[in-house]
Amino acid sequence: MQYERLVNWARDEAAQRQPSQKYVTIWASVECSNHIALKQVKAGRKLRSKARYDGYQALDCPVIVQINDCGSYNKKMVLTAGSGAFAFKFTTEDNQSFEVIYVSAYLTDDLQDLTAIALVPQQYLDIWAAFELMCSKAVRPRIKRRRDVYIIGGTDAFFDPTVDWSDVILPQELKQQLYDDVESFFSEGVGIYKKLKLVPFRKILLAGVPGTGKTMLCAALARHAIAQRRIVVYVSGSDRDGASFEKIQRAFQAVAAARFPTLLVVEELDAYLRGDDKARILNVLDGIESPNNPQGSLMIATTNYPEAIDERLTKRPGRLDRIYVIPVIQDEAQAEAMLRHYMGEHWHDSFSVVIPDLIDQPGAFVREVALQARMLAAHNRQTEVTLELLEKSVDSLSYQMKAERDFIIQRRGMGLTNNKPRIRRAGFNP
Ligand SMILES: Nc1ncnc2c1ncn2[C@@H]1O[C@H](COP(=O)(O)OP(=O)(O)OP(=O)(O)O)[C@@H](O)[C@H]1O
Ligand SMILES: [Mg+2]
Repeated sequence: MQYERLVNWARDEAAQRQPSQKYVTIWASVECSNHIALKQVKAGRKLRSKARYDGYQALDCPVIVQINDCGSYNKKMVLTAGSGAFAFKFTTEDNQSFEVIYVSAYLTDDLQDLTAIALVPQQYLDIWAAFELMCSKAVRPRIKRRRDVYIIGGTDAFFDPTVDWSDVILPQELKQQLYDDVESFFSEGVGIYKKLKLVPFRKILLAGVPGTGKTMLCAALARHAIAQRRIVVYVSGSDRDGASFEKIQRAFQAVAAARFPTLLVVEELDAYLRGDDKARILNVLDGIESPNNPQGSLMIATTNYPEAIDERLTKRPGRLDRIYVIPVIQDEAQAEAMLRHYMGEHWHDSFSVVIPDLIDQPGAFVREVALQARMLAAHNRQTEVTLELLEKSVDSLSYQMKAERDFIIQRRGMGLTNNKPRIRRAGFNP
């Protein structure tokens, strides 16, 4: 066992440093070796259990490799989590000094998951626990109320959502229900949850095929939330770590620490539920470990694959409270509204003939059709978009999508792909 090497090394080290001391070995918090904690928890700090923290000494430990993570903190790149060996020093209220020998390491090749153990004198376990708590508080992302979105795991640190609620074209009733759900939670819901002694954390899932406007809805809700002086935390799978449990955990910590009502956006929730982390994510959604922000937090998650979301989530209200299906274009009225929106001042009443072809398509289809027709008209130096150009654009995109579907079906027939087709459009900000 890999961790035995850590423990054996730590025991030898402890025996040499403080031979008379009796230690117990415990699983420890990986946050004690996080560089942010090492820097922020200063020697001389009083701990809750009336002891004092006297600083640390980094130890040379040949059985581990020292690797650090880095990330942005207060807009600067800094070292964050890291493996390492340390002697943490403490003094008790009756002036007894003691050390804790601590080792954190990456034990598996494929997971960037730290494991930490500590040798602690048994009578001082409470002092150690107070120190661990202080370290994890130091590491927890701190959110100030700001006028943009706090992104966890994305390639940019912040972004400003620009989608307006009125830009999203969907059946009015659906939009209203969703809006009322969000608003009634923040206005009355939080109080009701608390009266019932429930953690005020509500979870909503937006499900639908690609391109129906789920990301747009999230961006519009984010913009609205900011206008209401709420905090928005957005979990992104776009950095090199992809969709990991660790990100959800960091987001939940940020939400719990936010002292304001918070909207948490988790795009493509299904991706987080595919790997080994599924059980852990189910647990945090379950309520016991869900973020307890007294001001209330609402999670909006999206998915193209509701079937990939575990039954244990969808079948039991409480894990996900509401599921809204975001549909493709339902009827002529919606198709016309969408086409008018994307044609803008180039709209012409003759365009109504293409409307039946837009039914059952996602909004992204209409956007692309309109964009292409407008671009071609501009390219041909035409001042107006003709019906002919628009029809051509509808036909070519329909043809392209059919060809793409056939191609994927063929590939599946040959056993070349076992993934569902996925048209990826990057970005939260359409
Ligand atoms: N209901 C809609 N109203 C207005 N525009 C829409 C709508 N649906 C899609 N669009 C247009 O299509 C683009 C892509 O939509 P969006 O990214 O929101 O889809 P999505 O449902 O999140 O797709 P995916 O499941 O692939 O993430 C939007 O930026 C917008 O321009
Ligand atoms: Mg999306």
